[in-house]
Amino acid sequence: MAKLRVIFENGDPERVIEFDPAKAPFHHDGLPGSILDILLGHKIHLEHACGGNCACTTCHVIVKQGGKQLSEATEQEEDMLDKAPGLTPTSRLGCQSVVEDPNAEITVVIPRYTINLTSEAAEE
Ligand code: FES
Repeated sequence: MAKLRVIFENGDPERVIEFDPAKAPFHHDGLPGSILDILLGHKIHLEHACGGNCACTTCHVIVKQGGKQLSEATEQEEDMLDKAPGLTPTSRLGCQSVVEDPNAEITVVIPRYTINLTSEAAEE
């Protein structure tokens, strides 16, 4: 079983999901087996304004552990991520990062997402 630990920056209690990547898709948004797919399929909310199509940044997550066990980011994902508020070197789009390893142990942080971050950053 793969393990996905989810830490919420807004202080919500941490969650640990155990799942079998071979059983993907778990939901109908995002790439099958993606972090978005796994979260939604386990009733954990993650924004996904574009429906999991790599066309927004609302599914931004920060990978704290196990980044190498995720599918590699495409150029399109990298381009979208550049627009994400609070971008970090281990940021990914939840709908595009697929858990492939059946024994993966991954930890992600869900940033406290506010659209206002963009405008505040622009004002500095
Ligand atoms: S939901 Fe829009 S890019 Fe992931």
